Amino acid sequence: MHAPPRLIDLPKILDDRGNLSFLQESDQIPFKIRRAYWVYDVPGGEVRGSHAFHRSHELIIALSGSFDVVVHNGSEEQVFSMKRSYHALEIPPLNWRTLRDFSTNSLALILASTEYHENDYIRAFDKFQLARWAPVGGHDHD
Ligand code: TYD
Repeated sequence: MHAPPRLIDLPKILDDRGNLSFLQESDQIPFKIRRAYWVYDVPGGEVRGSHAFHRSHELIIALSGSFDVVVHNGSEEQVFSMKRSYHALEIPPLNWRTLRDFSTNSLALILASTEYHENDYIRAFDKFQLARWAPVGGHDHD
């Protein structure tokens, strides 16, 4: 059974001088962060992502503006509207995710459990479905 996506409420320190949120490995993050990247200056109507990972675990945060993350588990999809900088969407491996409907000036921060390896990407949906239903561990005993 592959883990489903999950919305995590990050701590929010309200302050008249401006609010503050944070995350740290030991409390809010279910993996060790090996990489951070961010997506910005997305033209209206553009779509990013649309792939899955074999191994990489991710957290996606809308630091500014808003966008939707569509997560497909191979048989059904869920749409997460990201618009609060104190929400993090956890996406375990072997979930197909697409980022779309970016607002002007939106900024998507992605924290990942692996460094960048092109061979961790699954970029074809039919291959994703095969990988999703392949036996865990790769050994098929009948
Ligand atoms: P990619 O993840 O394919 O973006 P999208 O799925 O939204 O189109 O990344 C686009 C390019 O950026 C890809 O060719 C490789 C490069 N890249 C890195 O070099 N390091 C990274 O950590 C990421 C995420 C991408």
